[in-house]
Amino acid sequence: MDRESRAAEVLRSFSGIRTAVILGTGLGVMEREIDIREAFSYAKIPGFPESTVTSHSGRLLAGTLGGKSVLVMSGRFHLYEGYSAEEVTLPIRVFKLLGVRNLLISNAAGGLRKDLEPGNIMLVTDHINFTGRNPLVGTNKDNLGPRFPDMTQPYSRRLSDLARKHAKEKSMELHEGVYVQVMGPSLETASETRMLQRMGADAVGMSTVMEVIQAVHCGMEVLAVSAITNSNDPDNYAPVSLETVIAHAEKAGPSIAELFRGVLSSL
Ligand code: HPA
Repeated sequence: MDRESRAAEVLRSFSGIRTAVILGTGLGVMEREIDIREAFSYAKIPGFPESTVTSHSGRLLAGTLGGKSVLVMSGRFHLYEGYSAEEVTLPIRVFKLLGVRNLLISNAAGGLRKDLEPGNIMLVTDHINFTGRNPLVGTNKDNLGPRFPDMTQPYSRRLSDLARKHAKEKSMELHEGVYVQVMGPSLETASETRMLQRMGADAVGMSTVMEVIQAVHCGMEVLAVSAITNSNDPDNYAPVSLETVIAHAEKAGPSIAELFRGVLSSL
């Protein structure tokens, strides 16, 4: 049995839950908005890597948000922890085997555009994979999806429109833009920031794109929202601390939870 099948076997009581949510750095605060029914430490799930980042708690939760059952990853795996792209995306394949169809992703990101300020939230409309990695490298898992998955529309139009509609109804400011994933863990130099801006990226982070590629391969509908935790202006560059990132992610967390709640209630 492969890794994802073994994990899915242990989690089989969750099969039939249609939506999974990933909480990024500092966004564990969103747990408060979820009515949690069950929690599994990642260590108890066979094949799951252990989250090595202290800012992530590393638990899979089952609960309710917006009146819908959800599976929630509180803490995710990153390439910079030394995990392969395949390991980082194992939970997505497990979700697929459990019957998940919608994936709602949150992350912490640095703003690359002047109007993106710490504490803002940004709907991800497209991405740039700048990691040099891809979770689909190797023999294709034909039971999950095709060899060359299309990426013309990785982020679901339907879910994005629901997010826009809900933001409008709640008078929430929702920016939109392109997210670029870098490998990390070092942050960007001023010159790298200029390069990312010229490439067309609006926000930069160290997660999400691997997961989205795997989810699209599996045929899931994806929604992703970034908490802007710092603004990277190469002409006025200032160091960013993890504490600042977490503080601003925590500030943005309730807005992202509200957005996800609204989307879920319309599904
Ligand atoms: N760069 C990369 N990843 C990040 C940043 C950043 O500025 N902020 C939060 N995650």
